Amino acid sequence: MTLSTDQKESGRCSVVVLISGSGSNLQALIDCADEGGYSIRAVISNKADAFGLTRAKKAGIPTAHLSHLAFATREEFDSALMDIIDQFEPDLVVLAGFMRILSAAFVSHYAGRLLNIHPSLLPDFAGVNTHQRALDAKVTRHGASVHFVTEELDGGPVIARHSVPVTQTDTAESLAARVLQQEHTLYPKVVAWFAAGELRMTDSVAQHTRIPLPDTQDFD
Ligand code: GRF
Repeated sequence: MTLSTDQKESGRCSVVVLISGSGSNLQALIDCADEGGYSIRAVISNKADAFGLTRAKKAGIPTAHLSHLAFATREEFDSALMDIIDQFEPDLVVLAGFMRILSAAFVSHYAGRLLNIHPSLLPDFAGVNTHQRALDAKVTRHGASVHFVTEELDGGPVIARHSVPVTQTDTAESLAARVLQQEHTLYPKVVAWFAAGELRMTDSVAQHTRIPLPDTQDFD
């Protein structure tokens, strides 16, 4: 896989998206790419059957599959993954439901240009099963966060959050669906900020040229 001259010279922020599953966030990023001033150069999955690969192909975006099961160590998988990603010369690497813990070498290689979306209002509920944990904790609001990735799992500086109310009748599934809907506007917004040169990470602090971070928006 090599870049065409057109792709290299488009002048838009080039993005590589990593996925493991459905790719609904990927779809939102695809749908908002023109307006957001970025170009998705490739979609890479560690799962061959990830539906996101089908979404990417439909949009004419190059795809790659690299199974972590083919590697003895996390470091070896990450190194092979970096080789594929770097062929596309991305300005930004976007994790969109990529279900892997990343090695220190990977995080360091993409420092300041690696984003993740997490289904909770970070720093609350890092890790898994966030929706059930939010219900168990009886919080009144829950949501999603986009953050720069650092070595600490779900612990990098938070850029933006969207929150929704938690209702008395919510289940983990209903809450997940309401939060996912917000993810689909939150992630393209943040990627567009990066593409516009408005966002950066300096000394592990996220900074926007105009907006105090983390930008937190509540939706009812
Ligand atoms: C989202 O909930 C995201 O926050 C989390 O993984 C899920 C991915 O969903 N990191 P999708 O594959 O984008 O539909």
